[in-house]
Order: sequence, then C-alpha cells, then structure tokens
Amino acid sequence: MNNIRSSYTDSLNFYGKEDPQSLAEQFGTPLYVYNENILRERCREFLKLSTHDGFRINYSAKANTNPHLLKIIQEEGCRIDAMSPGELLLDLKAGFTSDKILYVCNNVSDDELKFALSHNLLISVDSLSQIERLCMLNPNGKIMVRFNPGIGAGHSAKVVTGGKETKFGVDPEKLPQVLEILEKYKVRLAGINHHIGSLFMDGADYINAAKVLMDLATRLPHLDELEIIDFGGGFGIPYEKYDEKPRFDLEAFSKLLDATLEEWSKKHNYKGLFYLEPGRYIAAECGLVLGSVFVHKDNSDKYYVGTDLGFNVLARPMLYDSFHDVEIYRKNGSPDDVCIEQTIVGNICESGDIIAKNRSLPLLKEGDTIAMLDAGAYGFVMSSNYTSRLRPAEVLIKADGTAKLIRRKETFEDIFATIIDD
Ligand code: LLP
Repeated sequence: MNNIRSSYTDSLNFYGKEDPQSLAEQFGTPLYVYNENILRERCREFLKLSTHDGFRINYSAKANTNPHLLKIIQEEGCRIDAMSPGELLLDLKAGFTSDKILYVCNNVSDDELKFALSHNLLISVDSLSQIERLCMLNPNGKIMVRFNPGIGAGHSAKVVTGGKETKFGVDPEKLPQVLEILEKYKVRLAGINHHIGSLFMDGADYINAAKVLMDLATRLPHLDELEIIDFGGGFGIPYEKYDEKPRFDLEAFSKLLDATLEEWSKKHNYKGLFYLEPGRYIAAECGLVLGSVFVHKDNSDKYYVGTDLGFNVLARPMLYDSFHDVEIYRKNGSPDDVCIEQTIVGNICESGDIIAKNRSLPLLKEGDTIAMLDAGAYGFVMSSNYTSRLRPAEVLIKADGTAKLIRRKETFEDIFATIIDD
C-alpha cells in the first residue's frame, strides 16, 4: 500500500503487522489505536531520569485509564495516581495495590474521602477546609497536602495549575494553620505535593517550583515523618510531528533533577520518596485516533473535509485550540500529491467542531482513512456521548505486532442503560 502521508508512523512501525485501513475496516471508525512498544519506551525514559534511591514515577491516570495500558505501565515499574473513585477502581482493576496508588483530589465530598480511606490510600487534599474534613474522618491517620508553589506553566490558561490565578493548592504562608489542624487531630503529614500545570517543553519552571516545595519541607517540624514529596507532572511532547519540533530535553532535565534531589536530601537527611507525576508524556505518543473521510466541500472559498472525528471523539482541538498532526492513508495513493489548505471537521452540530484548521495537506478524498496523532493522552478519556453518538473502541498493537481489542465500541444499550423507564 502506498499511503499519502504516513512517514511518521511508518518510521516507528506503529501499526506492527496491521495497517490502518484494515483496522478501520475490521473495527470501524472512529477508533483509538495504541502501540505497546511506544508506551513501554516512554515509561522507561522517565524511570531512568534519576538514580536517587527514593525516585519514583507516579503515572497520572487521568491521561488514559484503559486498564490494559495501566497494566503495561505497572509492569514497567510505575506507581499511579487517582483523582476520582472511578480512576481508583480502574487502577485496582489493572493490578495496582493500595500502597502504589496516591489519591490526588480536590473539592470532593466526605463520601469520596471515605471511599479512598476504605482502600487505605494516602490522600492529597488542597484546602484548609478539606484538610480539616479529612482529619475528622481519619484522626491519628496520615495525610498529604497540596501546596501552591506560586509558579505555573502550561499550554493554555485552562491547564495552568500553579500560581495566583488558579483554584489549586494551599498557600505555603498558611503552613502554620495546616500544622495546627494536623496537631488537633494527631494526623501525620506523610506527603506534600504540587502540580504546576500541563505541557511545558523546558524543565526550568518545574525545577524552580520543586525547590519551593523542598524549601517548605525544611520548615516542617517533622521532616523525618515525611514519606513523599511529589512534584506533579506537566512534561510536554512535540505535537507537530511533520515539522520536526524538538523534544523535551530529558537528558538535560535529568542532570538538573538528579543533582537537585541528591544535594537536598543529603543536606537535610531526607529518607523519603520523590515522585514525578507525568500523564501526557507517558501516554500521548503511544496513541492515535483513526477516522474516515465522508465528505469534501467548498464553502466560501474554504475547503472543508467532513469526517467522523468530531469533538465528541477528540475534544482537545475544540477545547484548547490544540494541534494534532494528521496522517492520510489511501490504497495506491501518492505521497507527491500537491498540498492545498483544508479544514478537517467532524459531524457535530457546532461550527467549533474543527479537528484540524487550515492545514496544508494533499487533497483529502472520500474513502480516505485519517489519523490524528498523539491522541493517547486526554483523548478517549475526554470523549463524550454528545449528540448521542457512541464512544469509540480502542485497539492495542501488541509488542508482537498483532492487534487486540481492548475496549469495544459503545452500543445504544449502553446509552439507554441509565434511563429510567416509566
Ligand atoms: N498531577 C496532577 C495533580 C494533575 O492534575 C495532572 C494533570 C498531572 C499530574 C499530569 O499532568 P501531565 O503530565 O499529563 O501534563 N486535558 C488537558 C490536560 C489537563 C491536565 C490535568 N492535570 C489537555 O488535554 O491538555
């Protein structure tokens, strides 16, 4: 098969023994496709970032919770977080044990806190009111507190989670009040954490914020009781695959991180763990979503390509104006086709339903299969049933190159299941 635009996935042997068009025929589109080898490789890159004894990778499950992928992440040696009861159950389903799961929530009910406590999890909360609630529910227990380091970063204001403009974390100035509440309930501060935001391509802000958190740790009356210092995630990937944008420089970051952790823990005789909590970096590049081209049309001199990839399937372009690169598969196509500017849209009844805007691409045709790349993180997990469309299936290309269905497509029965009949 000669494709139109596939050199990126070709170079990785992304589809193994399969090919995108036969996957689309076999499982239908939209279809999320993941590659096991790439997922393992991303975990390994992170696990070797530091040689410090206490260094751990705590995968942030919100990026992708399919238990088949979580199981691979667990086999590689990562721990995991959960930010809701559903994520907690999925983590357990994948085989993570309670001691490897961290509950990082914000603004939740007592019932939710009790649920996490019933699974013996260490829980991170991020307000004085929630600290008090958790202490009341679990006197003499342990707690983790999320602070706001005053530094934020991210690809959009919607995902910056550190700094004054965000709802997250306790102001480090309020440490005395935090300690007072803990003392009242004889609760031990077993962890401190933060997360500055999502998708930065250089580690300077991350390290600066880490230093703020470590500095706060030195002000604790019982640093020896601290088990975990968790710096959060946020590490970016280059989405412009056909522009060859540089990757996050993990080598430089690793040197800086390792030196920072070693020096600080020696100086303060810290024997606990350090967590990094990446979601996107681990899961984004091992996944893509396949769609079909049904329509091409010319509207007011603009060329539109109509597909089944609406924002119900991949929400990021609509929500954040995010860029995902496109591949085009056509039997007996030619990669030398002339490029014209096209806008790829979905089948949802809103003008914002644009998946790729003004892209210079070979002319797409009805019957083509396309892929939106780097959709493994915040892809399926953010899909919805808007306009009562069914959420797609997920397929894993295993290490041996064969395909395995790891989630079936929804059925109308799934949608009707929660409706109460008269
Ligand atoms: N830790 C905490 C407490 C978080 O809230 C998050 C992400 C992470 C770790 C992992 O961040 P990552 O390494 O994936 O950047 N839906 C957005 C991203 C939202 C991230 C939310 N929190 C997107 O599609 O860009």
